[in-house]
Amino acid sequence: MLGLYVHIPYCRVKCYYCDFAAFSGQKRTAGRYLRALEREARFWEGDAPETLYIGGGTPSELDREQVTELFGLIRRGFPAACFKEISFEANPESLDLDKIALLKELGVSRLSLGLQTPDDALLKSIGRMHTAADFHKAFREARAAGMSVSVDLMCGLPGQTAAGFRSGLREILDLEPEHLSLYGLQVEDRTLFARRGVEPDEDLCRAMHEGAIEALHVEGYEHYEISNFARPGYQSIHNQIYWRNGEYIGLGCGAASCRDGRRSTNDDRLIPYIEAAEAGSRPVSSIEELRGKDKLGETAMLGLRLVSEGVSIAGEMGEAFRLSWRHLEEQGLVRIAAGRARLTREGVFLANRAFSEFVPPYREVPVAA
Ligand SMILES: C[S@@+](CC[C@H](N)C(=O)[O-])C[C@H]1O[C@@H](n2cnc3c(N)ncnc32)[C@H](O)[C@@H]1O
Repeated sequence: MLGLYVHIPYCRVKCYYCDFAAFSGQKRTAGRYLRALEREARFWEGDAPETLYIGGGTPSELDREQVTELFGLIRRGFPAACFKEISFEANPESLDLDKIALLKELGVSRLSLGLQTPDDALLKSIGRMHTAADFHKAFREARAAGMSVSVDLMCGLPGQTAAGFRSGLREILDLEPEHLSLYGLQVEDRTLFARRGVEPDEDLCRAMHEGAIEALHVEGYEHYEISNFARPGYQSIHNQIYWRNGEYIGLGCGAASCRDGRRSTNDDRLIPYIEAAEAGSRPVSSIEELRGKDKLGETAMLGLRLVSEGVSIAGEMGEAFRLSWRHLEEQGLVRIAAGRARLTREGVFLANRAFSEFVPPYREVPVAA
């Protein structure tokens, strides 16, 4: 299955923790940006993606005309596409009934709402422009429109307490969203949090994460990926393409594509991206081709992210990383059963340690490419 990701890099204000290709105060370039997306789509002529994910940045920052134009250019660029799932990322402050109705009309089936926390003081302290009440309103309206809703939450935020996190999670679970993503705060370079010297409390973050896994399990959510939980039947089809190391096209500033075994990443600077596309060039900043053991390693890392499904270790995968699989099992990070490897509960929290087995230098002699 082929996926299509389209990146919309506009935000009203950049969150203090965010290092994605996202820009505030640049919306005047949106018309040019949409035309650049249309030019870029021409490089993928003939492809027929089956999932569409519009992410950001904040796609809901686009106004009605721009949203209509965006879907128009996608349909024109991929006339053979037949989407099984269309996800759209939105922030509560830029959604209203009208926009939700439009998204529904354009075929959006999944709305991914960026909430982070329902605590208004915390929201303010991380640079968010909405309140918990704005979120509740957007949630109700999306539900009334018949969309399935995913909610993004964060744990380990400065000033967030375990009790506060628990009650916030309860507030969200009472709404019964179909899907929930939970991310532990990462303090990335080039963010306001890094400049302020914020240091996440990893133990507290882990305690919050463990509590959430428990609570979500009790409510019937499947913990299907390290950071993702879904009610039965509501896993994101698009994101599962990434984790199964499948093929996808990424359009837009900073977007990545993986097609015909080649991974490419677009320029993550807004104007250079637009200018390259306007000049008729592919706006890529890097292309790599993974082969042999490196490719297997990538499949292992991505597959292990799928907590319940895991990754098959049949054939080459088991052979090439024989010592690593044994080592991970001995360390209690991975469990092997019926020809598949899965992260243990401990492994979920120490996933980066497990993943280090699958990037060079390897434990064993590499197999021929
Ligand atoms: C790329 S963002 C865009 C979604 C939306 N515009 C928003 O702001 O909520 C997707 C999600 O990644 C998570 N995220 C972004 N930066 C993060 C960081 N530094 N640490 C942990 N999670 C992060 C947030 O939960 C966010 O909602």
